[in-house]
Amino acid sequence: MNIAFLACSTTLPGAPDRRADAFEHDQQMAALTAALAPGETVTDIDWRAPLADFAGFDLALIGTPWDYQDHRAAFLAKLEAIAALGIAVCNAPDVVRWNIDKGYLAELAARGVATIPTLLLDNPGRAEILAAFDHFSCDRVIAKRRVGAGAEGQFDFTRDAPPPPDWQMGHPALVQPFLPAIVDEGEHSLIFIDGQFSHGLIKRPAAGDYRVQSLYGGWDTAVTPAPADLAAAEAVLTGLPFPAPLYARIDLVRGPDGTLLLMEAELIEPFLYPLQGPELGPRLLAGIRRRLTSSAPGSRS
Ligand SMILES: Nc1ncnc2c1ncn2[C@@H]1O[C@H](COP(=O)(O)OP(=O)(O)O)[C@@H](O)[C@H]1O
Ligand SMILES: [Mg+2]
Repeated sequence: MNIAFLACSTTLPGAPDRRADAFEHDQQMAALTAALAPGETVTDIDWRAPLADFAGFDLALIGTPWDYQDHRAAFLAKLEAIAALGIAVCNAPDVVRWNIDKGYLAELAARGVATIPTLLLDNPGRAEILAAFDHFSCDRVIAKRRVGAGAEGQFDFTRDAPPPPDWQMGHPALVQPFLPAIVDEGEHSLIFIDGQFSHGLIKRPAAGDYRVQSLYGGWDTAVTPAPADLAAAEAVLTGLPFPAPLYARIDLVRGPDGTLLLMEAELIEPFLYPLQGPELGPRLLAGIRRRLTSSAPGSRS
């Protein structure tokens, strides 16, 4: 069984312009490598590699292709082309297609999932941001790209520091009230493998920032979620319009009423925090083996 771990030119080892957070790539590869059985391999490969380079792999795991945001169509087309070779892709291209646009938050909210209140706007300007303060009855909003990751291209506005008159987001956007719990408590990440809770952590921003990503100095601690917090994350998985995929990282922040609200259901290329969840490698590989066995010709399970 040969696994391709999809990466990109700035996360692969040896890249001259390797990202500062590429240690996360190494941690995930190490977790998988340590859990391999004899005869199994995992190889990191650029998602842009020619299709011929994928011959011989049984499954492509979407690992660290952390540059697809501006190449969405090419990324999806590549996943579909890999799948068309008979190589299982996890998570599946349909799941990726659904998850790549954060507009899915509105769909989940409509299905009863507790999400951060969200306005979907085409290309907001100053007027839309000013209206959002009133709409949410708040003094601070976050504007982020519907297709985005790593807090790139994200804006943080207050009534005291609103956008300048000529400001335009330049992208389809989500606008949300700023939740102060991101600073006071942090962002919860609960990691599920095949729908089963695996491990959890809280990510906190560096002093003076509100972004929890390691690129901005964010740091994290493993936590065992309280029953109500675990239930909030499980409700997100149940609300998905498809069965729980191989891996899911559910990111939530506490709202003013004390319940955890969905920030993002990360089903494409989330970092899965192997150091906080030492069982991650074995659990992922077990899920992969289950998939490859049940899709084998003639198999009925
Ligand atoms: N509504 C919000 N309130 C407070 N902080 C937020 C809010 N939305 C985003 N953030 C901060 O910005 C970061 C990036 O936003 P997120 O929605 O997770 O997008 P992505 O991770 O895809 O860039 C979050 O991890 C969090 O630190
Ligand atoms: Mg996020």
